Amino acid sequence: MRTKVFGRQLIELARVESTNTIAAEMITAGHLDHGAVVLAHEQTAGRGQRGRTWHSAPGLDLTFSIVLRPETLRAEDQFMLVRCAALAVYDVVATYLPDVRIKWPNDILVGRRKVAGILIRTEVLGDMVRSAIIGIGLNVNSSGFEEGLVATSLCMELGRTLDRNTLLEELCLRFEHQWGRNNTDVAGAYAERLWARGRWADVALDGAPAVVRPMDVDASGRLIVEHEDGSVQAYGLERLRFAPR
Ligand code: BTN
Repeated sequence: MRTKVFGRQLIELARVESTNTIAAEMITAGHLDHGAVVLAHEQTAGRGQRGRTWHSAPGLDLTFSIVLRPETLRAEDQFMLVRCAALAVYDVVATYLPDVRIKWPNDILVGRRKVAGILIRTEVLGDMVRSAIIGIGLNVNSSGFEEGLVATSLCMELGRTLDRNTLLEELCLRFEHQWGRNNTDVAGAYAERLWARGRWADVALDGAPAVVRPMDVDASGRLIVEHEDGSVQAYGLERLRFAPR
């Protein structure tokens, strides 16, 4: 690895339930340093957002977790983890493909299709984040997604397979770069790359269909949107969802 910190400790596993779960166990056991990466070639119970399952093709995609044991990350600033992870994945995918966006809060899209997902778990003590596990699933060489899943892979988009080790190193390098930047720059870069930013988009707001214009994301990670009457409001995921398309 050409990184200084992230991925220098690399735990490579053939088959696990979920790299996020095993990383949590290994943190508890005191086995993982700040910057460690836990990579699995196959996940038997990969976890996605909102209790969903994350499917990836054994040996073809990337499923890994980056472990952080930050010393100065305040709990109220933990959305920085989402921003840095989403930007890292964005940066790597965008070196291969055009039309990459970050769909708030942490899906990476190519066109309208999801190519990567991120699942973050933090352990907070008092006001501070003691540890964080950033789970990243990137569809690399798989193809033939279930009907109804608006998904794609780098291989499907590019028409050729990619080396997963190279991509893992690029992801660690990009994450390290983002993590080392100042918060304002990271927040600005994240906002600029938001899918549907400045455009009217169909959403579900408190369960009802609505049309809003995403503008930015606030420090706590809520999406700031403009309503058709010109009012501006910030919403968390518990209230606002992009309509499935
Ligand atoms: C999503 O639903 O979009 C988030 C998917 C996150 C998947 C990754 S794969 C590596 C890590 N381990 C898991 O069980 N989930 C995350």
